[in-house]
Amino acid sequence: MDKFLIRGGKALRGTVAISGAKNSALPVMAAALLTAEKVAIHNIPKVRDLITMSKLLTFMDAKVTVTEVPASDYVIEAPRLNHAEAPYELVKTMRASILTLGPLMARLGVARISLPGGCAIGARPVDLHLKALERMGAEITTSHGYIEAKVPGNGTKGRRLKGAHIVFEKITVTGTENILMAATLADGETILENCAREPEVTDLLVMLRKMGAQIEGDGTATLRIRGVAELHGTEHSVIPDRIETGTFLVAGAITGGELAITNCEPEHQGAVIAKLKQAGACIEIADKTTLRVRGGKKLVASNMTTEEFPGFATDMQAQYMALATQAEGASVITETIFENRYLHASEMIRMGANISIEGRQAVVHGPAPLSGTTVQASDLRASAGLMLAGLVANGETVIERVYHIDRGYERIVEKLGAVGAEIERVHGPA
Ligand code: EPZ
Repeated sequence: MDKFLIRGGKALRGTVAISGAKNSALPVMAAALLTAEKVAIHNIPKVRDLITMSKLLTFMDAKVTVTEVPASDYVIEAPRLNHAEAPYELVKTMRASILTLGPLMARLGVARISLPGGCAIGARPVDLHLKALERMGAEITTSHGYIEAKVPGNGTKGRRLKGAHIVFEKITVTGTENILMAATLADGETILENCAREPEVTDLLVMLRKMGAQIEGDGTATLRIRGVAELHGTEHSVIPDRIETGTFLVAGAITGGELAITNCEPEHQGAVIAKLKQAGACIEIADKTTLRVRGGKKLVASNMTTEEFPGFATDMQAQYMALATQAEGASVITETIFENRYLHASEMIRMGANISIEGRQAVVHGPAPLSGTTVQASDLRASAGLMLAGLVANGETVIERVYHIDRGYERIVEKLGAVGAEIERVHGPA
């Protein structure tokens, strides 16, 4: 297994370009299953989760062609889908495989998806996805670890989901995306309430509309979808990754450096910019796609609560915690989205951070001098938090299990190295 070696203490300076958003590319790729025609997708980041999604679509008999240069462009064609199934081997490496459930049910009226289990950050059930599909007429059973879903009826034409009025009991990002996709080909109108408003949901909606879907309510909690008979092919470029952008904003601030972050979408960073400014970072919107961050001023404690968009993203909590270890005073962090998303804290404590955790709250006292040691990454964003801690730690930090970070950050070692970080990847046995 690969490791990262980081020698901390370097202020990061220079320009870093943001890649396409993993969490947008995943549903957008799954949406290609909704049509028999060709779908071309640009700006897909080269990260492991998207290779897994590509394997999954191929398993279902879609043809996925990837062009690597200059960025990853995918062309997906699914004229026939002979295996409406997401097998355990793929789902266990990527929970987002569940995103194929909605498109398969919409197009074929049948799907068999391995039930995603919990993961390091929480139990993460998919009950709301299933309840919504049942409201749309699907019959769903779970047996032998698989979700078996079908629309009663004969032949593909008879097996159409029915439009329904669905109020999500809790805001769910992939749940909203799954049911949005399912509704595009359903009979009649679907109204979805209490939807996730994340930019990735809107990006999917924009692509579905280009495919011929009839949807209203962009960026709001209520989406209205009028089902159409079929969708057609399209071309789409995924939005910039807002979590990668936020991670580099923290990297600039925590190291006391100065970074220009290009190819990003400043409008998606409202909560992160506001919080980092409160904590003492200087951030400016240089133009429509560029942010500048300057550290160097004293960092000060500021409380933070994770929320659904447009609030502060749970996917930025570990990175913010790294920053809080260097801020003067006590920062109270409250994680409201996932019940177990503090695994990085115990590793930061091993590096010298002063953090105490009670339930969903973490209190971080700073500034604490961090010292490099060997730490274990437990999930994607936890790894990012540890990497940021390593950038300010004294001496060498070794981050193990970086396969987590490879799931979602494109060429992170190269990008950090290019702006002055001393970081290298050490290859180990798989
Ligand atoms: C998405 O996961 C993201 N993944 C996650 O990104 C992100 O952390 C999360 O949204 C929250 O923003 C993708 O977009 C592929 P949820 P998702 O359903 O959709 C509960 C990363 O690091 N819930 O919005 O799985 C759930 O347990 C990742 O890139 C139910 O109870 O998250 C959680 O407490 C990790 N029942 C809350 O809702 C359900 O049926 C929000 O989860 C569904 C969710």
